[in-house]
Amino acid sequence: MGYKLRIYLSFALMGIGITLSEPEHPNQVVLLDTTSVLGELGWMTYPVNGWDAITEMDEQNRPIHTFQVCHVMEPNQNNWLRSSWIARQAAERIYVELRFTLRDCNSIPWVSGTCKETFNLHYLESEESHNHFRPADYAKIDTVAADESFTQTDVGERVLRLNTEVRELGPVRTSGFYLAFQDVGACIALLSVRVYYKKCPSTLRNLAAFPDTVPRVHSSALVEVRGACVQNAEERDTPRLYCSADGDWLVPLGRCVCSVGYEESDGLCLACKPGFYKAFAGNIKCSKCPPHSYSYTEASALCHCEKGYYRATKDPPSTACTRPPSLPRNVVYIMNETALFLHWAPPSDAGGRKDLTYNVLCHRCGGAGQVCQPCTSDVRFVPPPVGLTRTSVAVLDFVANANYTFQIEAVNGVSGMGGAARQMANITISTEQAGPSLVGTVKKDWSTQNSMALSWQEAEQPHAPILDYEIKYYEKEHEQLSYSSTRTKVPSAIVTGLKSSTVYVFHVRARTAAGYSSYSPKIEFITGDDDSEEVSDQGQVLVIVTAAVGGFSLLVILTLFLLITGRCQWYIKSKMKPQDKRRTQYQNGHVPFPGIKTYVDPDTYEDPSQAVHDFAKEIDPSRIHIERVIGAGEFGEVCSGRLRTPGKKEIPVAIKTLKGGYTERQRRDFLREASIMGQFDNPNIIRLEGVVTKSRPVMIVVEYMENGSLDSFLRKHDGHFTVIQLVGMLRGIASGMMYLSDTGYVHRDLAARNILVDDNLVCKVSDFGLSRVLEDDPEASYTTTGGKIPIRWTAPEAIQYRKFTSASDVWSYGIVMWEVMSYGERPYWEMSNQDVILSIEEGYRLPAPMGCPIALHQLMVHCWQKERSRRPRFHDLLSFLDQLIRNPSSLLTLVEDVHSLPESPEDLPDYPLFISIGDWLDSIKMSQYKNNFIAAGYTTLDSISTMNIDDVRRIGVSLIGHQRRIVSSIQTLRLQIMHIQQNGFHV
Ligand code: ADE
Repeated sequence: MGYKLRIYLSFALMGIGITLSEPEHPNQVVLLDTTSVLGELGWMTYPVNGWDAITEMDEQNRPIHTFQVCHVMEPNQNNWLRSSWIARQAAERIYVELRFTLRDCNSIPWVSGTCKETFNLHYLESEESHNHFRPADYAKIDTVAADESFTQTDVGERVLRLNTEVRELGPVRTSGFYLAFQDVGACIALLSVRVYYKKCPSTLRNLAAFPDTVPRVHSSALVEVRGACVQNAEERDTPRLYCSADGDWLVPLGRCVCSVGYEESDGLCLACKPGFYKAFAGNIKCSKCPPHSYSYTEASALCHCEKGYYRATKDPPSTACTRPPSLPRNVVYIMNETALFLHWAPPSDAGGRKDLTYNVLCHRCGGAGQVCQPCTSDVRFVPPPVGLTRTSVAVLDFVANANYTFQIEAVNGVSGMGGAARQMANITISTEQAGPSLVGTVKKDWSTQNSMALSWQEAEQPHAPILDYEIKYYEKEHEQLSYSSTRTKVPSAIVTGLKSSTVYVFHVRARTAAGYSSYSPKIEFITGDDDSEEVSDQGQVLVIVTAAVGGFSLLVILTLFLLITGRCQWYIKSKMKPQDKRRTQYQNGHVPFPGIKTYVDPDTYEDPSQAVHDFAKEIDPSRIHIERVIGAGEFGEVCSGRLRTPGKKEIPVAIKTLKGGYTERQRRDFLREASIMGQFDNPNIIRLEGVVTKSRPVMIVVEYMENGSLDSFLRKHDGHFTVIQLVGMLRGIASGMMYLSDTGYVHRDLAARNILVDDNLVCKVSDFGLSRVLEDDPEASYTTTGGKIPIRWTAPEAIQYRKFTSASDVWSYGIVMWEVMSYGERPYWEMSNQDVILSIEEGYRLPAPMGCPIALHQLMVHCWQKERSRRPRFHDLLSFLDQLIRNPSSLLTLVEDVHSLPESPEDLPDYPLFISIGDWLDSIKMSQYKNNFIAAGYTTLDSISTMNIDDVRRIGVSLIGHQRRIVSSIQTLRLQIMHIQQNGFHV
């Protein structure tokens, strides 16, 4: 039987293909595993012929210890098998895993009554191993039955099934124990016994290490375990885990984080590599050193700045190292009689920082020895010149006839670090043209219906002898339309040619060798009375009838005066130069303003070379030094060079040449430009130095403009300028055009390509020559009526019926504005000329270029009104641009910010044309409070819109009537501002 069984068991073991060694369980500590005992097991059997110990060898020649018993035919079986002594180690609760096969009694014939299908498992606590065995000492753990036994298959074959049963025992208190298997008559093969206890295995969680932990005996109780932070980590919250009875870690609490210079990787804290840093403890990764910084060692907490780069004290370690900014660029200024506006472009290199500010230092130089001293506190800056965030500042209350040097410094958070010297952009400005009025109050001595005698007091101590006075006057009703001027060497004048019973506004300025003073305050007088009272604010005329005697004397004086002036005029006319006589033949019916030179069309000369002699100086060619060719004109090359004038500094010039083999007509056309240019004298019109006509080549010499033509200059510097700088350029062009229109000259080809730019960004109108200009202009094309016209720049009436006027120049000016604001974009892009004409006719207008302030686009749209009389004049354009420059905040609203804009000029509602505090106060006749507003920090219309009567009182307006007038105007203004904010800005 034993033999038979052995055969069967061996077969069975192979048949079920058991690999008795099992994979390791990480949360089990094995106390005994019969499959891994290589030598004798040392187990005992009672009686000795009960259980049978069989040791087979596996393929790797390792023993397989099995125990079998199968006394199923004999009754009253009680066979014990006792294990060797098993050390408890740290275990309290112990698990016994049995793997066995058990034959079902039905499968064995004739055994009913004796055959069993269970066996019993027992244990005995014992401090040490011993040899005696008393079954009664053992405590029963359980009766074990098979879940699976032999089973019959369809083909009648029997298949052996392996059972795995686990039983628990404990708590065991002694240092060891025995197991015992009691067979009571079954057929069993015990293939392996594994005894183990459970533990929570050592682990790393949340950057903390937790040791092996044995669970509590009571399965519901968890063991709380504190972890220890791994190397280079630090505790945030005490790291804890709970060990469950099953050996599982539960409920992680608290954590450790990697220290400065270390980052987490696979549960450990590893040092940051060179080139990386970590400035704070925390579970974040090491970061690459920010730009312009480095770390050469491992575990860096910070990257060091490269040479010349710094971190400001408040800069976090993650920011790039930065450096002080480069110099502010393109410093320019605009000056009027009372204020000087400095503008500059931000430095090309802001040093990599955003905290750029500017400081403006002022020195006044002058007097003997040209010593320069810091400006006194009299010179006021608005806003204050330190820590400026915008690129402009207004300078007020400077002294006339002095040289000021302004140093503009760009500063950022690392300026002054590393001890580098401060760098400043300098500009020296002479205030010859500005300064206080040298003229006292203007009085009317007498007036007739058409003339008026005025006088004023000479300044007591003018800084230089007064050469003459200029009296400027205009009809009050037509203030914006035109003005006249006249000169006198004495502090009085008789102004003639006035309309009767008409209110005129007068103001006077003095001219010294240093230039003009500012104008005296404006004063109003009416013609046709003999009363020297000034017209009151409200325009009421105080007429005091003079006595009859007075009237008679006046009549005598007047008769004498008329006789004298009549003779004088005859005399003056007879002495007039021919070109002055020609001034009576006005271009386009231009009516000249008295005192302003009218442009003379060279074509009115019978001999055109006479025109050249009248208006252009002949230059000796030996004074001209040609340096290089800079372009090609229709008549020949354009060169740059230098012009020497005895007793003067050599100056750079541009030289237009007439190439050889020209016809007489070409020579005349070529020199026509000089005849025109020579008549102009304005800082925004290209200056003619002279001509060479008496030798070959014939040349026209003009001032040199370093930056060439405006269109290519803008394209080259796309996006480089501030809006204020662009507006400054536009202002220059408008000023030049105002001058031209005042002289009666119509340009006809105003376009960015015909504007030249110098190195201070001053723009000057060039390319004069009427029809010749258009012949020469590649943009000009023939219209159906045969004229050659630059369609995209030209007003519809000029295209349709050649109605060229200053108003058509204004249209072109609008296009130039668009070119400037779009940095030289082609107007109407690639649309054909025909499409441009059609779309203009249908009311389409160029949209605002990107980034264009709404106020500027609105101004353009105004210039493009179909009805030319509704277009602004150059005078209006200039004063509007001046207001924008004085109030840069009005340029902040970009077209992109506003959604409902008028699409064509016809949609524009009427709005007042003032946008500065000064203009607003002027409009309500409260100009005397300008300084109060500025001193209290109210510089924009926006800023005053919330003022109430208390605020007005607080800034020093003490008269109740004035307070009321100001507040009520603010209320109206507030509504307008709201409307502007909602609907966009309109002029
Ligand atoms: N191109 C044509 N005229 C010029 C001038 N005056 N200065 C510079 N470039 C020019």
